[in-house]
Amino acid sequence: EKVVLAYSGGLDTTAIIPWLKEHFNYDVICCCIDCGQGNELDGLEERAKLSGAEKLYIINMIDEFCDEYIIPCVQAGAVYENKYLLGTSMARPGIAKKLVEVARKEGAVAICHGATGKGNDQIRFELGIKALAPDLKIIAPWRMTDIWTMQSREDEIAYCKAHGIDLPFSADSSYSRDRNLWHISHEGLELEDPGKEPNYDHILMLGVTPQKAPDKETEISLSFEVGVPVALNGKKMKVSEIITELNELGGANGIGIIDIVENRVVGMKSRGVYETPGGTILMEAHSALEELVLDRATFEVKKDMGNKFAQIVYEGKWFTPLREAIQSFVESTQQYVTGEVKLKLYKGNIIKAGTTSPYSLYSESLASFTTGDLYDHHDADGFITLFGLPLKVRAMKMAQVNKE
Ligand code: ARG
Ligand code: SIN
Repeated sequence: EKVVLAYSGGLDTTAIIPWLKEHFNYDVICCCIDCGQGNELDGLEERAKLSGAEKLYIINMIDEFCDEYIIPCVQAGAVYENKYLLGTSMARPGIAKKLVEVARKEGAVAICHGATGKGNDQIRFELGIKALAPDLKIIAPWRMTDIWTMQSREDEIAYCKAHGIDLPFSADSSYSRDRNLWHISHEGLELEDPGKEPNYDHILMLGVTPQKAPDKETEISLSFEVGVPVALNGKKMKVSEIITELNELGGANGIGIIDIVENRVVGMKSRGVYETPGGTILMEAHSALEELVLDRATFEVKKDMGNKFAQIVYEGKWFTPLREAIQSFVESTQQYVTGEVKLKLYKGNIIKAGTTSPYSLYSESLASFTTGDLYDHHDADGFITLFGLPLKVRAMKMAQVNKE
């Protein structure tokens, strides 16, 4: 019997290979899903094989990640707890989907992942798998405390050695990180104490702090068609290329670094630092364009829907009717989100430098203080009388009640 293991190449998931063979006697099919984690993929093949894996799949889903997961989140303006751009959360359902596809292809009976028992990721992987393949068994070693006895990196290295796997893993643990095209997250070490300042020199991987960014702004322009970014600085590119380049530009200018204490689904608060340089710029540009083209009522409802969408994504409920329904709503609001946004990147700031759209609802003659013929100031008299009527009625009643 076969098990598909979500494999990153790191020590945790490498130690799981011999462990699965020892405790379940499964053939282990490793599956590494590339969402843009970059150099983390170096030497993967060798590691998996040396560790006793039957097979290794490396599946590049970068463009699918962009089109199917990132773009819907950008369009929804999905931000968790006012700050977190959901980089890890939005990648998990796609990974779950790929794991299921490989499991089907291989005729595997189970899927195994290396997420800890205290986090959100276990929920996201497992809800995804349950929704797509309810018959598959799910193995979460870190929750099987009777047979998963390794508690530290040293333990894992010793376990691997005892099983004939001698790989150059370092024993000292760094931050717990998760990287993809959209972001990189950092948790652990000094970050576990919210009273401590993050050691940014050690943490940051995608860029620099605003203090270290150049004292000179970088001007960019982003073009959108129907809510999708299509060009950067006038050059047509696919979404993954735009994000890659924005990551460079944003990183160099100290953009998109957040330090947050967030509420995990499993009940605890956790503190993390996230770098989302390109994503932060993209979301800002997209919302600048929406400011011009969305009417007020749609804008308001969309804001609420965006919050709801963020929560759904954070909680791993991607493959649900509610996510699909909200996504459909959001998509229909994107019909006229077409145009160009100019921005200046400067020491952690994104400064707007002009937005244009053929569908802009902004009317200069309406908004300017010189009178045009579309707006008659006298109309405002009656409007305010009616708009303010309930407030006036209540105030009159209160005055009467207080006198009695
Ligand atoms: N706290 C973030 C989230 O829940 C990031 C999790 C990072 N995951 C990881 N395996 N290091 O989405
Ligand atoms: C983990 O537990 O694997 C990382 C943290 C999280 O999922 O929230």
